[in-house]
Amino acid sequence: MSESKTYPPSHAFASRANVSGMEAYREMYARARHDPGRFWGDLAHSELSWFTQPLKTLEWDPPFAKWFSGGRINACYNCVDRHLTDGRKAKPAILWEGEPAGDQRSITYEELHHLVTRFANALRHLGLRVNDRVIIYMPMIPELAVAMLACARLGIIHSVVFGGFSAEALRARIQDLDARLVITADGGWRRGKEVRLKAAVDEALEGLAHVRNVVVYRRTGSAIDMKNGRDIWWHDAEAAAASTPATTDPCEPAKLDAEHPLYVLYTSGTTGKPKGILHTTAGYLLQTSMSMKWVFDLKEDDIFWCTADIGWVTGHSYIVYGPLCAGATVVMYEGAPDYPAYDRFWSIVEKYRVTIFYTSPTAIRALIRQGNKWPEAHNLSTLRLLGSVGEPINPAAWEWYYKVIGKERCPVVDTWWQTETGAIMIAPIPGAVPQKPGSATLPLPGIFPDVVDARGEPVEDNKEGYLIIHWPWPSMARTIWKDPERFKEQYWSRVPGAYFTGDAARRDSDGYYWILGRVDDVMNVSGHRLSTMEVESALVHHPAVAEAAVVAKPHEITGQAVCAFVTLKKGDYNTEQLREELRQWVAHEIGAFARPEEIRFTEALPKTRSGKIMRRLLREIVTTHSVTGDITTLEDMSVVSALAAQHEED
Ligand code: WT7
Repeated sequence: MSESKTYPPSHAFASRANVSGMEAYREMYARARHDPGRFWGDLAHSELSWFTQPLKTLEWDPPFAKWFSGGRINACYNCVDRHLTDGRKAKPAILWEGEPAGDQRSITYEELHHLVTRFANALRHLGLRVNDRVIIYMPMIPELAVAMLACARLGIIHSVVFGGFSAEALRARIQDLDARLVITADGGWRRGKEVRLKAAVDEALEGLAHVRNVVVYRRTGSAIDMKNGRDIWWHDAEAAAASTPATTDPCEPAKLDAEHPLYVLYTSGTTGKPKGILHTTAGYLLQTSMSMKWVFDLKEDDIFWCTADIGWVTGHSYIVYGPLCAGATVVMYEGAPDYPAYDRFWSIVEKYRVTIFYTSPTAIRALIRQGNKWPEAHNLSTLRLLGSVGEPINPAAWEWYYKVIGKERCPVVDTWWQTETGAIMIAPIPGAVPQKPGSATLPLPGIFPDVVDARGEPVEDNKEGYLIIHWPWPSMARTIWKDPERFKEQYWSRVPGAYFTGDAARRDSDGYYWILGRVDDVMNVSGHRLSTMEVESALVHHPAVAEAAVVAKPHEITGQAVCAFVTLKKGDYNTEQLREELRQWVAHEIGAFARPEEIRFTEALPKTRSGKIMRRLLREIVTTHSVTGDITTLEDMSVVSALAAQHEED
């Protein structure tokens, strides 16, 4: 392993930073290590607004944690109401840019309060109560955040489904949660086309009786079907509430338990069935807002832009809850990074004077390919900090980001975390920790990772192993919805007492973490998590498919791409046509982002004698184009040579 370059924080940055210098970081880390309960307890007291202060910091009955027991709190109050009296009333909370030219809105904290309470009243008027579940399937418009915060205000558990998911995927989530209500829009804009969300909701709801209402926000104005008695326009729901004495303003925030469920977010695991990750209130708010101050060095006048979709955890934590809890101004953008041209990101940075910019390595690589003329055409001088998330960032992309976008002035924070961790776990605190391109660097205070072998024993420096985390942290997932056993088994059983991340990593002699990718059947395509089984089960639903095995193959832009090996049932096929049909089929079953890049038809799949598909071999074929590993347990070795040979022909 060659010596990697190190970028210490500049004096100019460090001297003004919230956490300045390595000593400050080390002191904080040591203090948290010495007494994690006290460390987090003190922060919870000083950073969050409580109706009733907690009695205990942590109750730990592994793997189930309760943080800040006895405390009464409301996430919406912390993200909105309290900023009306802390000097931020007239400060913009959300600067929104729609995809179509000229579409923009600026929403102050006071206006956000108005929007949220009005919509919360509409939810009450529709009969929703604390602990009910609501699905939100919306484009990236302010009302998406408004809907989340209105739920949080009432103690209703929201589950945002990314607008890129298909009707099928939406339906599965609605069912698993036994949701009462779906909040959607007629559509949203993406790359100049309308994403027809309401039509997908109609398809998803066919035959589902437990969904009583669908609230529809008018975004695109296109024609949609409104089902009588079930569907109601957002503005009509608000008007109905406003004319009923019981549901007029002010809608007081519910005084909820610190552990009250805030949301469920589905993510892919190792099986075909996505897991409903449950996050609760106080610990999640604390850690997401603390990371705004530590990792993003948030200051009062910053303009913070996280380019993720709110449908993923990154958007939950770093567009909505973290920044708003910390009283920041966020930029929110509806559409695609390359529409109408490759400089859309940079024109938004310039227009809104963005100071902190947070995006994915896939977006960076895609923009590198278009050349420097796009960023160079814009004034990016307001930027002072850059972030990366979702997948490993290769050093070349890191360097480009640092030089061409940050002009060698802005630290780059590579942030490692997961849907399950709720907030950033490993990342450089930019005024303190020197950065090394490609490394997420050091854990945040209160986070105690390790790299271990299969027996759970720590491995030596620079050796590859499993990344685990000792000790609970406030924003950790509390369980999998309706499946605490799976929670225990998936995350807390491999290494007893520790959290198993599913990632491989190595730690260098400076204690820096280098994330190497997943060790399970989870793929990472453009920073979007996808399970091999999910794509396989979509494929085998197709009438022509007998069997399917899916693996990730390396991809220059998206990090990984989906590659499917498919065997067909007997019949005559036009394979070119079928290949395209199957790709579309997967897009329809899961979502466009899951569409396989490549489909290879084969006579048979390599299996062990017990009938398990040997994905390791297939992975090797698509990665190295040959097979070297142990194949003595293969049922039919000829299958492997045929597959390898097929590649030679390609
Ligand atoms: C998986 C989690 C974190 C929010 C977005 C993704 C990979 C995430 C990094 C990083 C290398 C990373 C891991 C992780 N990952 N951030 N900075 N460097 N890998 O959340 O969908 O739950 O995916 O994304 O493999 O396990 P997610």
